Amino acid sequence: MREVLTIAMPKGRIFEEAAELLRKAGYLLPPEFDDSRKLIIDVPEESFRFILAKPMDVTTYVEHGVADIGIAGKDVMLEEERDVYEVLDLKISACHLAVAGLPGTKMSDIAPKVATKYPNVASSYFREQGQQVEIIKLNGSIELAPMIGLADRIVDIVSTGRTLEENGLVQLEHIVDITSRLIVNPVSYRLKDKMIDELVERLSEII
Ligand code: PRP
Repeated sequence: MREVLTIAMPKGRIFEEAAELLRKAGYLLPPEFDDSRKLIIDVPEESFRFILAKPMDVTTYVEHGVADIGIAGKDVMLEEERDVYEVLDLKISACHLAVAGLPGTKMSDIAPKVATKYPNVASSYFREQGQQVEIIKLNGSIELAPMIGLADRIVDIVSTGRTLEENGLVQLEHIVDITSRLIVNPVSYRLKDKMIDELVERLSEII
């Protein structure tokens, strides 16, 4: 019996692009893959088992070895130090991390507040800028924070820029470009090297 490769896929916006990439690389994924509430999808024809995870959790599954590989945003990789290998830039879901806020407002003089889903990235960014800030961790809808007076600034993902625009915010600083990466559990890389190398090779050819 052929070994199975367990792949942690991020649900949400990255999912569609990641599935398209796998199909372009010649892997046959069933239609239920695109429109299902199932959290585990087996594709025995390709010897794949997919687990559908929240994007922020993909690294956790891979680090713990319950997924051999995963697709994770560079934003998540920067935020958390994980014991996983980053083997390929998939060049999908391109966006960037930025500092944003209300136009024309100044940061409070004493401990300006910064709301973000990325407390580590935000702290080190402002530390490098020599600015002391108070970080307020949120889990989503970060753009609300300056609008309702919770924070002076936000550090968040900007993709099309629509969310900033429609909420009257402006980008103030570009922090870093982000794309999705293929990540691998170090033990799986040793045990399933042939399967992983083949996948990396097939994906590299079409990127
Ligand atoms: C992300 C990000 C921004 C938005 C940026 O949020 O946090 O809010 O997308 O995209 P845009 O520049 O194309 O408008 P997401 O939709 O993932 O939801 P969240 O608010 O729960 O983080």
